[in-house]
Amino acid sequence: MSVANAHETATPAPGEGRMTIAEAVAYGIERHQAGDLGLAERVYEAVLERDPDRVDVLNVLGILKYQCGELDAAAATLQRLLEIDPSADGVWNNLGNVLLKRGELGRAGEAFKRSLQLLPTAEAWANLARVYRRLGDLAVSEQTCLQALALAPDHGPATHNLALALLGQRRIEEGVQAALKAMQLLQPRERRRQTYVQYLLVADEPAQAAVILRAWQQQEPDNPYVLHHLAACTGAAMPERASDDYVEKEFDSFAESFDTTLARLNYRAPQIVAEAVAAALPPAARQFDILDLGCGTGLCGPLLQPWARTLAGCDLSTGMLMQAAGRGVYDELRKAELTAFMRTRPGAFDLAVSADTLNYFGELGEVARTVQATLRPGGVLVFTLEALASKEGEVVRLMPHGRYAHDGAHARQVFEQAGLVVDAPVGVVLREENKVPVQGWLVTARRP
Ligand SMILES: C[S@@+](CC[C@H](N)C(=O)[O-])C[C@H]1O[C@@H](n2cnc3c(N)ncnc32)[C@H](O)[C@@H]1O
Repeated sequence: MSVANAHETATPAPGEGRMTIAEAVAYGIERHQAGDLGLAERVYEAVLERDPDRVDVLNVLGILKYQCGELDAAAATLQRLLEIDPSADGVWNNLGNVLLKRGELGRAGEAFKRSLQLLPTAEAWANLARVYRRLGDLAVSEQTCLQALALAPDHGPATHNLALALLGQRRIEEGVQAALKAMQLLQPRERRRQTYVQYLLVADEPAQAAVILRAWQQQEPDNPYVLHHLAACTGAAMPERASDDYVEKEFDSFAESFDTTLARLNYRAPQIVAEAVAAALPPAARQFDILDLGCGTGLCGPLLQPWARTLAGCDLSTGMLMQAAGRGVYDELRKAELTAFMRTRPGAFDLAVSADTLNYFGELGEVARTVQATLRPGGVLVFTLEALASKEGEVVRLMPHGRYAHDGAHARQVFEQAGLVVDAPVGVVLREENKVPVQGWLVTARRP
């Protein structure tokens, strides 16, 4: 390929008249920086066909391959460059980033060290600190961040890595200070900020998590994650349920990894619900119209299918619904808030289930009334809740992790008040969190 056909024939190949190699390289870099990765790649490859040892082009091509997620090609390109010129500026650092992304921590660490031998930069120190953190060596990670900050006291990535190294060592106040500083220095990135909050919640420090959330709120007053978790961490102004915006955003970002993550946590709510369905219903003969409330990725679907004449699911998260659609077991999937959806379907279902979803509701009365109305007489409801380790008189709490926990007897009463006959809630283990079993309630109810 030549630069000519890379450039829609308007530009002849380098060295063939109108565009020199130097001009082609500049043009490729300009297209690269403009985000036109396809054209930039073709230009770089055309240049390398004529001059295969061109280290500046091998470097930008390696970066481009990394940006495209072609990690093997990126590593091979940068390694070839380093064979030609082992002291090329900044390239060991780039190779380290590629290797880190490939999960090759040892080789990434070596690459960052080679980079630092050639030229100590804050960036390479900060990258090496990430390697140590991922290897679990937090004290060394901290020291490595300090090397970066000695060179550049306001280096954002080094400050961020320092915050994580400190929080990971449970040096909470220092860690929070570093995190607050990183939030000033770096572009707002939701995941990074959520990581600070999660570290602090794992350390059982909700008040410190609230410090991060308040600072974040000043920059983004309407962020649904901030609003929800601030309420959860402070216990102030408990919302009746998690807002639609919060649920949608949270689960959209979680959808692709939901099943594998939950499997690692020994998630059992769908199986527990299916066992209760089997106990409450006659033998399966595809005879019932079934609704899966907050169906998520559809883990309940295949377990309910033997009883389903029709199977409908509703959920607020498009990402989760797309995963559910991929299972091919639901007749209908709706993006809808579950109480709103039920209001549109009075007397439509023989069975409604809800696994690990009503723990996004504090106030259960509206759910109870809408379920009662969407069930046919004799219809069955099976759901799980997280169990509240009750203080005297307390019936529901928004927990720092952002889900609600309920008193089982109170939940039973709410559904009875809506006109359902409710069995005594059964204590179950829903899954694990931070290696601790999450205690829950399994509730079976029937519309008389
Ligand atoms: C933890 S997941 C459980 C998913 C599925 N039931 C399972 O057991 O795998 C909770 C799901 O409930 C959904 N959800 C939470 N509140 C909701 C609401 N008010 N209306 C509809 N869906 C909701 C979320 O989007 C998410 O997909």
